[in-house]
Amino acid sequence: MEIIVQPDSQKASWLAAKLIKKIILEKPRPVIGLATGNTPLFLYKLLIKMYREGSLDFSRVVTFNLDEYVGLSPGHPSSYHHFMWENLFSQINIRPESVHFPNGLAADLQAHCQDYEQEIEKAGGIDIQVLGIGVNGHIGYNEPTSSLSSRTRIEILTEQTRKSNAVFFGSKDEVPFKAITMGIGTILEARICLLMAFGQKKARAVAQAVEGPLTAMVPASALQLHPQAIVLLDQDATTELKYLDYYKWVYDHKPEWQEY
Ligand code: PGA
Repeated sequence: MEIIVQPDSQKASWLAAKLIKKIILEKPRPVIGLATGNTPLFLYKLLIKMYREGSLDFSRVVTFNLDEYVGLSPGHPSSYHHFMWENLFSQINIRPESVHFPNGLAADLQAHCQDYEQEIEKAGGIDIQVLGIGVNGHIGYNEPTSSLSSRTRIEILTEQTRKSNAVFFGSKDEVPFKAITMGIGTILEARICLLMAFGQKKARAVAQAVEGPLTAMVPASALQLHPQAIVLLDQDATTELKYLDYYKWVYDHKPEWQEY
């Protein structure tokens, strides 16, 4: 894992945007895995800015979102489909047919989950997967005890996750109980995993994921198995890391050719 610490979430998001831009410029048909939630919001603003300034073209980009609630239509204001169109897709030149979401209204949800996996494969796999982390260590909606080799499937959300997501609904009671999520095994197949975590409330989950044992109780710890996992943190998210000085030293002495 590469742990990168920035003074604040905006500087960290700049770095994430630079990395994604590099991949988009390099690949003929870049495939980007996207996440929803508060964490990537500023990153999406920066990608829009790069597009508006003319330095980034999304016409060749293919995207796959990590998850979607079961039972919400794409037009529902709290669906992840709606979130992504509102916060990114409607403001860049991505082709509507190039964006992919799990469909929480599919008649046969299980068959749909398998189709989603096949779509990712058909696109050539994900070049970079953007991830947030839940306070309970989840990635996507892989809640604690998810199999570390799980694939796209229906997951039951924990009470804590539903509470955290209540801000995107009127109240916790309106948050669905189920979501479709890429599995941990699906996520680990992305060529780069970029986990972003900001704020003190993520500090414990980050320390468990990065320095704790590999365990299904902290799904993000599965990133320890990934050959190119980048963990991008603001200062507040680092307070429980034991090897913080080491991570900073390594990043400060990174050779220029390895920089993003
Ligand atoms: P957040 O959610 O970005 O809104 O903090 C992250 C997550 O729960 O995965």
